[in-house]
Amino acid sequence: MNQDEKKKKAAEAAFLRVLPSLNKETILGIGTGSTTNFFIEELNKAKVSIKGAVCSSEASKANLESSGIKVMELNEVYGIDVYVDGADEFNSRFELIKGGGGALTREKILANSSKQFICIVDDTKFCELLGKFPLPIEVLEVARSAISRELMKMGGKPVYRQNFITDNGHQIIDVHNMKIDIPYELESTLNNMPGVIENGLFAKRTADIIIQATNSDILTLEKDT
Ligand code: 5RP
Repeated sequence: MNQDEKKKKAAEAAFLRVLPSLNKETILGIGTGSTTNFFIEELNKAKVSIKGAVCSSEASKANLESSGIKVMELNEVYGIDVYVDGADEFNSRFELIKGGGGALTREKILANSSKQFICIVDDTKFCELLGKFPLPIEVLEVARSAISRELMKMGGKPVYRQNFITDNGHQIIDVHNMKIDIPYELESTLNNMPGVIENGLFAKRTADIIIQATNSDILTLEKDT
């Protein structure tokens, strides 16, 4: 099975998992990326009847158009029942790196506003010590160089993501070789730098459930509460 086929399997499994709980009051959270797009395909096919969906990007909003689901803003709802999104890396503590698609800030806000966060991945995304995937950080343009210098002092190799502006109008720095020993601490440290909008470490609000597709299986991992 290639990676795309595995992404699709994980998304289909997530859809089958959430389907029985969907009703007219449900607010669904929808992330961003190719794995999430497979989940959106399932929604588009099934024509489910829910109160609405809040999306983490303009791209996902557009993809959801033919589903018949009302696209809502987070400000219009009290919270999200279930948030479904992919990740660039995950570990056994359900901590994630996200933001490969550049939607990390809205993704973290949605995850944080959700009762349940289901992360859909293929097995190539597993990485016990997070950081093989360059860590995305959304920054204010004026602070980009200053933040990059700080990241270099921390041992990272910041690379400005060329020709990319987030849906929030900001730039992204992808940090290579970042030492992420304690993701929870680094997440706060990075967000305390002036000019950082958000970083792609999801260690405070981790996933609750990880649905992982391998060549032979779909594994549903549930975090102990
Ligand atoms: C977007 C994300 C995505 O979830 C992440 O990049 C994974 O993408 P894909 O499903 O295409 O592999 O965080 O900001």
